[in-house]
Amino acid sequence: MEIKLDYKTKGLESLKTDALILMIPEIKKNKEIGKQLDFLPDSLIHLVKQAIKLKVFSEKAESTHLMVTGIDDMPRLLLVGTGKQDKLNQETLRRIAGKIGKKIKSLKSEAISLVLPPWLSELSLDVGTIIAEGLLLGAYDFNKYSSAPTPDEEDDQPVDKVKITLLDADKMTSAKAIKQGETRAIATNYARDLGNTPGNDLYPEILAKEAESIALEYNMKIRILDQPEMEELGMGMLLGVARGSVRPPKLILMEYQHPKAKKQLAIVGKGVTFDSGGISLKPGSGMDEMKYDMCGAAAILGAMKAIGELKPKLNIIGVIPAVENMPDGNAQRPGDIVTAFNGKRVEVLNTDAEGRLILGDALSYTIKEYSPDGIIDFATLTGACIIALGHYASGVISNNEELTRQVVEAGKSSGDTVWPLPSFPEYEESIKGKFGDLLNTGGREAGTITAGLFLKNFVEEIPWVHVDIAGTAWGVKHISYQPAKGTTGVGVRLLIDLIGSWQA
Ligand code: BES
Ligand code: MN
Ligand code: ZN
Repeated sequence: MEIKLDYKTKGLESLKTDALILMIPEIKKNKEIGKQLDFLPDSLIHLVKQAIKLKVFSEKAESTHLMVTGIDDMPRLLLVGTGKQDKLNQETLRRIAGKIGKKIKSLKSEAISLVLPPWLSELSLDVGTIIAEGLLLGAYDFNKYSSAPTPDEEDDQPVDKVKITLLDADKMTSAKAIKQGETRAIATNYARDLGNTPGNDLYPEILAKEAESIALEYNMKIRILDQPEMEELGMGMLLGVARGSVRPPKLILMEYQHPKAKKQLAIVGKGVTFDSGGISLKPGSGMDEMKYDMCGAAAILGAMKAIGELKPKLNIIGVIPAVENMPDGNAQRPGDIVTAFNGKRVEVLNTDAEGRLILGDALSYTIKEYSPDGIIDFATLTGACIIALGHYASGVISNNEELTRQVVEAGKSSGDTVWPLPSFPEYEESIKGKFGDLLNTGGREAGTITAGLFLKNFVEEIPWVHVDIAGTAWGVKHISYQPAKGTTGVGVRLLIDLIGSWQA
């Protein structure tokens, strides 16, 4: 469904609309709703009060009720509960908007009006940005691969183009704020599309093409290193993973520059377009989910797209090592010892621990080429992270407290929640090499931590944060602005907020 947002600084006087959406706050027990509805015409006040009285609608957060009004100028009315006013914050409001986004289809209408009620302005929130973002995130669906409806189904098809007008009589937000929310959601939904696209249609060359078209659209510099260049540079870890696939690897390097920039941030994303495990083959059941193993890369591409739109005063390097991890006669073997770009010797005990190998080379190359002021990577790196934190928070390993603090903050404001894990030096024991410098796995114990600490060997002293998104990139439940199935686009909005805090 394609949604177009429109903004008007007017209220309900002489409004004609196919469908009206009203947000209704929850009132203290034994009190009746009153002044919160003052701005509505009497006929609507009556309807809302009736719905509450008859208990067909509750004002609890995210509950909804669709009514037919009998009023010709606004035949459909969707009531949306927002819960208690003091419980509303950036995240709860985003979820309410997400719920509205999901309900849009049921309105079966192409022109919808959403009222920003005066009481919303009492919250010190950027309501326009949050609501626009939540709406478009919640309404997302991935139907590129669905067949056309049969004649029987045709009558019940959802509308595919919807215009939603935000009515803001109190001028609590602005067209610009709404545009910001749209940009954030469009970039996230783009990352979701990439993540959901299966491995037969999305492989390293396709990620490179996507990066090229973003670079072209926003006038960014781009370099794509091919296999021969990687060989010349000695990227033994990246090349080792790529060997088993007929799809050639790509190292994508995008550069966004702002003339007033004072700092440079590098953002790196794991781009394993399919992870079979390689010779250390994964079990068959659930292997299909490994098409999502490029969600780190998708976060970088989504963020670069948003950066092109928002033009922050900062230089940003977007980096994606892109490979497919496959078993083959030419594939790397458990026991192989490879030489990393930074010279370290790495014993590949398990070819399924491939993410850290490609990221290690990408991180040390980025640091050598650009000496950024900070570097942050996103990766669906370990199944252990799902065990540790489930599908709600991403795990963080870092060498820098201040950058960790900034990432945690950006996680809070964006809803892309992260949680730092400990990185005591004792954990490094299990990845010390037997014949070389490092092992590519320290076994099952503390798997997310040892994977992060492996990467630490490739960032030198540069402030660095690693975000393990194995649990948060897909399979997230019960968050209304997240899709019911498939990828979440995690990382895009966190990066936008982090970049906001890094601007000159
Ligand atoms: N891409 C996987 C991690 C993963 C697993 C993400 C399940 C999401 C769901 C990664 O490449 C991997 O296979 N990691 C191994 C590491 C192990 C071999 C040390 C893992 O987690 O089992
Ligand atoms: Mn793997
Ligand atoms: Zn992987």
